[in-house]
Formats: sequence, structure tokens, C-alpha cells
Amino acid sequence: MLNSYLPKIAVIKNIKIQTPEVILFTLQLKNKEDQKNFKFIPGQFIEVGLPSFSEAPFAVCSNPDDSNKNFQICVRKAGQLTKKIHQLKINDQLTVRGPFGNGFPENLTGNILLIGGGLGLVPLRPLILANQNNKNFKMQIFYGACEAKDLIFKDEYKTWQKSANLALTLDKQCPNWKGNVGLITTLFDKIKVDSSATAILCGPPVMYKFVIQKLKQAGLDDANIFLSLERRMHCGIGVCQHCSIGSKYACKHGPIFSYQELKNIPGAI
Ligand SMILES: Cc1cc2nc3c(=O)[nH]c(=O)nc-3n(C[C@H](O)[C@H](O)[C@H](O)COP(=O)(O)OP(=O)(O)OC[C@H]3O[C@@H](n4cnc5c(N)ncnc54)[C@H](O)[C@@H]3O)c2cc1C
Ligand code: FES
Repeated sequence: MLNSYLPKIAVIKNIKIQTPEVILFTLQLKNKEDQKNFKFIPGQFIEVGLPSFSEAPFAVCSNPDDSNKNFQICVRKAGQLTKKIHQLKINDQLTVRGPFGNGFPENLTGNILLIGGGLGLVPLRPLILANQNNKNFKMQIFYGACEAKDLIFKDEYKTWQKSANLALTLDKQCPNWKGNVGLITTLFDKIKVDSSATAILCGPPVMYKFVIQKLKQAGLDDANIFLSLERRMHCGIGVCQHCSIGSKYACKHGPIFSYQELKNIPGAI
């Protein structure tokens, strides 16, 4: 029987620096059979750890169609564990439990608006990669970062633009930046959003309140607005109660919730 507490060993197969603070790691489970059977839904996370040190949740951010071969996580240096993960080299090992959580709604069709703030683009990337040739999926992407140096997945934008309408914004004007300057909400004042769209938001908590206001002004239904909630997590499987939101747990019932589910839970957003 699968034991959700039992970590599996993963080997680092590739390392790609994204920004001075963020690294993209390609991982492969050491046990070939486990890797072949590895599957995830975009929006799900895994607990990644270093034995006898600690572990933390990270969104799986690669194309789900490749998940039988390998998978990727994008790690921002935040504290002790992530600092140690940043020091790892190709062929070093770490532990992985999961995937956990519900992930984004499956079989999305129609107009899909992905809104990523900062590292919030990470869990959205599998949706983008998996739907590049999906004719039932009209993708619009709003992505905002602080400065030009903070933009992640930069070398993929050209490819994404073939199948998606990608709008970028920076909080501050940077040398040679010709795009939009201003918070992510300023994009709504310049680019039309379809009122029948399904919106998926991921970013710093402060962004949610203001982006939801814009989505409501554009006429989106509460049930068509989904957001990923970040809470401190430990077990990842609804046991330790560290990630509670009212009567729900972010790890087990989320991390993806519809605005309709959350809007009446005090402190949820
Ligand atoms: C579902 C989920 C998915 C995540 N996906 C990613 C990802 O794809 N990439 C990534 O880099 N990070 C992700 N995180 C955040 C990541 O888990 C934390 O940054 C990590 O726990 C930091 O560990 P640390 O020991 O290095 O830092 P710590 O020493 O534990 O913390 C350093 C700082 O970060 C803050 N912090 C730690 N965890 C969180 C959290 N969950 N929410 C808000 N602040 C926090 C602490 O308060 C402290 O200020 C995700 C978190 C969740 C809950
Ligand atoms: S992380 Fe333990 S209950 Fe959610």
C-alpha cells in the first residue's frame, strides 16, 4: 500500500538558474518503476526534503505529459532548506513525497485567464505547457514581476506566445524594458478580459484581493475564479493541522479553491 509519509529518493538531472534567487531543478525518481508511474495534476505540490534536515512543499512545474520521464520544481531561496537545495549539484539526491493536493480543475475549456504574480507563475507553467496545442483552450496570461531580473521562464515566452496571449508587467521601470509598468492589476485597465473566462490566480496573498476586484468588474462568476492558497505545511496530507483554513486544510482540500468556496471564510484571503 502507498505510504504518504514515506519519501522516495529523487536524483537531480538538470539545473537551470532562472533569477539570482530562483533555480529550476529537473528531478528523476531513483526507482525507475516509481518514475514511470509518477503522475500529477497541474497545481499539485510535492514535499521535497533533505534527509535529517527538513522538507517543504513545492509546486510541480513541468509538463504533466512528460511526468513518466522526469518532473521539475522551481525553488526560491527563502530560508535554511531552500538555501541548502540551491547548493545541490547534478546527480545529488533529495527526497520527494506526493504529489499532494487537488490541483486545478481538470478538462478546462474555453477562455482561460492565468494570472501569476512573482513565483506564482510556477504552478501555472504545467497548464501552459500541457495546453499549447489544445484547440479547446484559449489562453490569456497576465504575469507580473518586481523587476526585469525577477522574470522566470524568460526563454519560453516566445513559444508560449504562439498559443497564448501573454501580457507582462513590471512593478518598476527597468533599463531597456518596453512593456507595461505597474502592478498586475494595471493590465486589466489595458487588456480586455472575457466575462465568461475561467480565471486562475497564483501569487502573493496581497495580490488576490485586488485582482479579484478586477475580475468581478470584468463580470466573471465567483465559481469561475480559482486561486492557489499558500499556507505553512508539514504533513501535506491533512493530518498535522498546520494549514487549516476554517474547516478546510490547504494541503488536502486545496491548495486550489474557487473564490465561491473561500469568500465567506474569515481570513482565507
Ligand atoms: C502548496 C505550496 C507550494 C509551494 N510551491 C513553491 C514553489 O514552487 N517554489 C518555491 O520556491 N516555494 C514554494 N512554496 C513555498 C516554500 O514551501 C517555502 O518557501 C519553503 O517552505 C521555505 O523553506 P525554508 O526552510 O527554506 O525557509 P523557512 O526558514 O521555513 O522560511 C523562510 C521564510 O519564508 C517564509 N515562508 C516559508 N514557508 C512559507 C509559506 N508556505 N508561505 C509563506 N511564507 C513562507 C517564512 O515565514 C520565512 O520568512 C510553496 C508553498 C506551498 C504551501
Ligand atoms: S500540512 Fe498537515 S494538515 Fe495540511
